[in-house]
Amino acid sequence: MRADPALAKRGEALFTSKGCNACHNVGKPGKMAGPDLAGVTTRRTGEWLRRWLKDPNSMFGRDPIVDAMVVEAKNVKMPNMKLSDAEIEAFIAYFAQHP
Ligand code: HEC
Repeated sequence: MRADPALAKRGEALFTSKGCNACHNVGKPGKMAGPDLAGVTTRRTGEWLRRWLKDPNSMFGRDPIVDAMVVEAKNVKMPNMKLSDAEIEAFIAYFAQHP
């Protein structure tokens, strides 16, 4: 996936303003409640990421990747962050800069 730099910059700003950084790092050391998101655009498809970011609740108990992550996260379930499609594209562009 190739990242548009302006969109990626917006994603980086949203990562803080939307509070993603309370539970995730992107390529920094230290264990957070959720997975480090560096490499996430390599390990998941764009389709999977769009579905997940739009509505995590629709995937719990239905997607083996998600269920394995919930076990790894000691049963912390990511809340629905109420993201618009445009915000989701910005996040994906940002994560794609950290393959
Ligand atoms: C309350 C903690 C929390 C917050 C806030 C949060 N997440 Fe998560 N996130 C998780 C957890 C925990 C998982 C792993 C799946 C699970 O257990 O729900 C996850 C999984 C993910 C994944 C999939 C990771 C992978 O390896 O496939 C992405 C992408 C993601 N989050 C992005 C975001 C973004 C973007 C935001 C901000 C809009 C955000 N998260 C806010 C806890 C959080």
